[in-house]
Amino acid sequence: MRLDKYIAQTTDLSRALVKLALRNKRVLVNGEPVKDASLHLAPSDSVQLDGERLSPVGPRYFMLHKPLGYICATVDNDHPTVLELLDEPNQKILHIAGRLDIDTTGLVLITDDGQWNHRVTSPRHDCEKTYYVTLANDLVADAEAKLQAGILLKNETQLTKPATLERLCRNEVRLTISEGKYHQVKRMFAALGNRVVELHRERIGAITLDDALAVGHYRPLTEAEIQSIQ
Ligand code: URA
Repeated sequence: MRLDKYIAQTTDLSRALVKLALRNKRVLVNGEPVKDASLHLAPSDSVQLDGERLSPVGPRYFMLHKPLGYICATVDNDHPTVLELLDEPNQKILHIAGRLDIDTTGLVLITDDGQWNHRVTSPRHDCEKTYYVTLANDLVADAEAKLQAGILLKNETQLTKPATLERLCRNEVRLTISEGKYHQVKRMFAALGNRVVELHRERIGAITLDDALAVGHYRPLTEAEIQSIQ
């Protein structure tokens, strides 16, 4: 890997500050000052910045209990982002594995492992997501069959993949889907003539939102939770 990329990935420095550190001879490779940002590092090379040895962080995996009003984006001018709830080094390489709308609460997974992220979000991997849904109106009698058969959402050409509905009470249901189209759950119930008034994600694959995790808090995933995403 290039020296400047390695420093950017192992510190909180932006690319511009990495350049400056190199120019000011604050970077040593195997004990020697190096200014060449494009230098290719061998796995055995040791890199120091201001006398501190840099070592790769990650891969890292977290679950977060998303509050209302937070946006699942890296930056936003108008709203706080879920990444602002983290206190981790080198946050710029962390990404959200499956976004939630600003008014949806619940389980969000965050990682710097791109392949793992892909396995959570790609429809080809059939990773189930379960939502607790509060509806505005009574649900049509044949909702289960329609959701299982697939629904043609507005502005889409393909039916949704089979989804499972569990009725909890008159206007509360649990819905399990295995894809993540834009506003998918809200659009599925809209297609059934209903409206989602509250939406909360409880589960992704075998990873369930930890009851002990207060709203706005996060924790690292356990090894079993990480391995459960295949
Ligand atoms: N479906 C939605 O409509 N919104 C979400 O936030 C997640 C799934």
